[in-house]
Amino acid sequence: MADAASHSVPAHVAIIMDGNGRWAAARGLPRVAGHREGAKAVRRTIEAAVNHGVQYLTLFAFSSENWQRSAGEVQDLTFLLKHYLRSELAELHAEGVRLKVIGERERFGDTLAQELEAAERKTANNKRLTLVLALSYGGRAEIVAAARRAIEAGMKPTELNEQNFGSLLFTGGIPDPDLVIRTSGEQRVSNFLLWQLAYAEILFTKTLWPDFCGRDFAGALEEYAGRERRFGARPV
Ligand code: IPE
Ligand code: IPE
Ligand code: MG
Repeated sequence: MADAASHSVPAHVAIIMDGNGRWAAARGLPRVAGHREGAKAVRRTIEAAVNHGVQYLTLFAFSSENWQRSAGEVQDLTFLLKHYLRSELAELHAEGVRLKVIGERERFGDTLAQELEAAERKTANNKRLTLVLALSYGGRAEIVAAARRAIEAGMKPTELNEQNFGSLLFTGGIPDPDLVIRTSGEQRVSNFLLWQLAYAEILFTKTLWPDFCGRDFAGALEEYAGRERRFGARPV
């Protein structure tokens, strides 16, 4: 196993947590059962990330397009999110996890949006792991929002560059993901971190998210360690 000090450990791992519905369907259960089980995989994954010395873990929990699902499923997901936050926050804080939310949190309503903000404030000085939760998140919306901010700030076209534009995104101040994992066998990006994924290593696994465990996480880090990143340059 790679140790925390090794450069082969990705500083930032981002995960498209997919396959909850199929996990439930395979068992004849309602989709919400898959989402509930998915929350357990979130716990396991945070623990694994901390243990491996990963510094940033971004979890895609709800996309801007997921609002198109049935009202019942949206309600179930919102409830689970609220429940997760309330039951896990104390432990996350105790473990030194800093929480950061990206996306349009206000779409979940004032109560949850305020609770998320309070959780960010409470954990703001934690150093062990930054847990980025992508909630009502869409990469295109994020880029448009950043462009709006640049205009509102009165930036001149010639002033704008990749660095300062990047800092206007929801993820400003967070390094780009080194490794992106998508579970469930789907091989697409689904509007996740479009700007930030420019040079990320991508790993698709057939494992459904509720089945994802510490061993899968370790396996992904091992595969990452074996990859050669070139960033467009020729290997020396
Ligand atoms: C991922 O699982 C959770 C969310 C997108 C909220 P899905 O709900 O997409 O599960 P599948 O893809 O239908 O199996
Ligand atoms: C992507 O999964 C979004 C999340 C994991 C939160 P989806 O299940 O929504 O994506 P598509 O529809 O298969 O592309
Ligand atoms: Mg899905």
